[in-house]
Amino acid sequence: MTSPRTRTFTLVAGLFVGVPALLLTGAGVAAPSTQEGLGAQATQTGTPDLIPRPVSYEASPDDEFELDKLSQIVVTGESGETRTVASRFARQLHRSTGFGLPVSTQPARDGDISLSTKGSESLGDEGYQLTVDDQVSIVAHTAEGVFRGLTTLRQLLPPKVEAQTRQPGPWVVEGAEITDEPRFPYRGTMLDVSRHFFSVDEVKRYIDLASLYKINTLHMHLADDQGWRIQVDSWPRLTTYGGSLEVGGTPGGSYTKRQFAEIVRYAADHYIEIVPEIDTPGHTNAALASYAELNCDGIAPPLYTGTDVGFSSLCIPKPITYEFLDDVFREVAEQSPGPRIHLGGDEAHVTPHEQYLEFVPKAAALVTKRGKTVQGWQEIAETPLPPGSTAQYWGTEDPRSDGLARMAVAQGAEVLMSPANHVYLDMKYDENTPYGLTWAGLIPVQKSYDWDPATLVDGVSEEDVVGVEAPLWSETLDEISKVEFMAFPRLPGVAEIGWTPAADRSWDEYKGRLGGQAPRWEILDVNYFAAEEIPWQ
Ligand code: ACM
Repeated sequence: MTSPRTRTFTLVAGLFVGVPALLLTGAGVAAPSTQEGLGAQATQTGTPDLIPRPVSYEASPDDEFELDKLSQIVVTGESGETRTVASRFARQLHRSTGFGLPVSTQPARDGDISLSTKGSESLGDEGYQLTVDDQVSIVAHTAEGVFRGLTTLRQLLPPKVEAQTRQPGPWVVEGAEITDEPRFPYRGTMLDVSRHFFSVDEVKRYIDLASLYKINTLHMHLADDQGWRIQVDSWPRLTTYGGSLEVGGTPGGSYTKRQFAEIVRYAADHYIEIVPEIDTPGHTNAALASYAELNCDGIAPPLYTGTDVGFSSLCIPKPITYEFLDDVFREVAEQSPGPRIHLGGDEAHVTPHEQYLEFVPKAAALVTKRGKTVQGWQEIAETPLPPGSTAQYWGTEDPRSDGLARMAVAQGAEVLMSPANHVYLDMKYDENTPYGLTWAGLIPVQKSYDWDPATLVDGVSEEDVVGVEAPLWSETLDEISKVEFMAFPRLPGVAEIGWTPAADRSWDEYKGRLGGQAPRWEILDVNYFAAEEIPWQ
């Protein structure tokens, strides 16, 4: 389009059904052709297999982009942050393409990728415009928006771009004009590292895979009955003893401050915010076992490696409970730069209800004291919450849970949607799923996709909802490959629910795009469940 450069087109497939394909030969000589026998990359709907589906995608059938050994990533007059995003993308693509992809401030030429944060403020933090012709241009308002646009470009490139080793080209992208921004600001998944502990590398692997679908929040369930997983220097036995085991009695583990910082940094590099959860006042056996003085009777229970819930509680009347939580939230806040801390609040079955109502506001005040906003499971909505709090719906469209969500809305709290019968990734797909639970029902892929956050609960509408999160509880999952099996293919659908306008989503169209992820997952070695209702490519 601009400065010419010698490029060789051998074959450009006809890419869109119903549109006469162009066969380009030599240096851009175009000759009409037909769709027959071409168009291997086209889907039945004629749009690429992008997930989440962008707000607007217009094909430019006359254009195409090819990345080659002379390609540069052009970043002019931008923040250091955008240059960092560019360098990271270049390193990632270098592995499979072998191209140097220098980050440059020279004017962009054909074959270059140019990145800019000069886009309008109306694009928000995550929106971007992506144009593919002889060049790729991504315009956003922030470096994060540029990152989201590059994530789309990654999906537009052939799946082999994900490979860790050098692959043969060509690296061609069909011409297109994309304008995109998310529906909700919070698109998350949760990893339970308490029931089974996952190493830093395993968490990074989960971040890698979630990030490909524009997930922007990783909620880490760091403390439960079976294990305490984050270092707290003022209460060291929480990890040295309370973190020593996991479900089944196998050795557990915990993150040192240095390791947790590594997770936070890795997540931030992928524009994923960590939400640390310390579950209270129930789900606290690991803490109660570590410190006898936290128990009402002063006697520490043994460590617990089973999978029952709802049997433990902090001692609500004891002052030391709040000294403990003040220290814990301080040290967790110091380790977590994100704005939120999750204080749990679910299934406090042995906490006297009056005491529960007294406890939550006191615990919440210890969170806000550290400059963080409060997130908690839906039960916290029964108590007055500080401004800016988030109540996380985990119901099954049952009257009690729906009522709690409405109580959250009534007091001005945001609702985060994690309906257990749709997005609990630990629920089995069908009766043959080798692990997982069934208490919220079986969740086939369609059921995880076919629901809407703004219409699920009467009285909770679009403006009350901050987003969606797919929790993954690990009672039955002791390896990251099993986590992958439960999350894929359901997690990309949840990511799309959070990103794509409701009116643009339909299962019949989505499942085709989902099927198109298989080649990418094969290369990334994702242990996904090949559900038979998906037309896998
Ligand atoms: C939960 O599943 N207990 C939040």
